[in-house]
Amino acid sequence: MKVQEVEMVMSAVSEAQYPTDQLPEIALSGRSNVGKSSLINKLINRKSYARTSSKPGKTQTLNFYKVESQLYFVDVPGYGYAKVSKKQREKFGQIIETYLTTRQNVRGLISLIDGRHEPTEDDVAMYVFAKYYDLPVLVVATKMDKISKSKWNRQEKIIKEKLDFNPVDKFVSFSALTGAGKEQVWEWIERQCEI
Ligand code: GTP
Ligand code: MG
Repeated sequence: MKVQEVEMVMSAVSEAQYPTDQLPEIALSGRSNVGKSSLINKLINRKSYARTSSKPGKTQTLNFYKVESQLYFVDVPGYGYAKVSKKQREKFGQIIETYLTTRQNVRGLISLIDGRHEPTEDDVAMYVFAKYYDLPVLVVATKMDKISKSKWNRQEKIIKEKLDFNPVDKFVSFSALTGAGKEQVWEWIERQCEI
């Protein structure tokens, strides 16, 4: 999709604040600092529309980005960041869970995983959770510019094994820096949203 128009519609913490138009929604999850906001910026061709930060834990609400009046990206709070309090972590978890399990408009989840490492327990839990609720998932391995291309296949295998990856889902190696994988991510989104 050629994106020209993006609108940051709202930051929501509760259902009452979700958008009321019935556009398809694609949620993005991943641990703090994995590159969720950077992926959104790359997809919409903006440098810093979604706020990125080297400080983890920046995104603490559901942020709805309306794209070309056709769909929403929903940037959810990053999980697994130790420096926020346990209480806050539980609150984030609840926001994500309520959203993913009750929202009819969600067409799929983009689960971001740091491509340099094995998935964390939180990454695995997120994937298991999504599969339990029958959500289509696109696993995106991020920051792939930081490892040589000859290792990409091996990383993909490691990640899929650890997740017990279901072949109905898709996997993309991605870099927000180089744009690698961007078209494949868009293809998946367009298929899920039927646009
Ligand atoms: P929270 O909002 O805190 O959950 O983080 P986030 O997942 O939105 O991460 P964000 O996009 O803010 O990126 C975190 C850091 O990683 C920033 O310093 C980014 O510049 C960097 N980063 C993200 N994606 C890439 C990538 O593909 N390559 C490289 N080299 N750096 C990246
Ligand atoms: Mg963010």
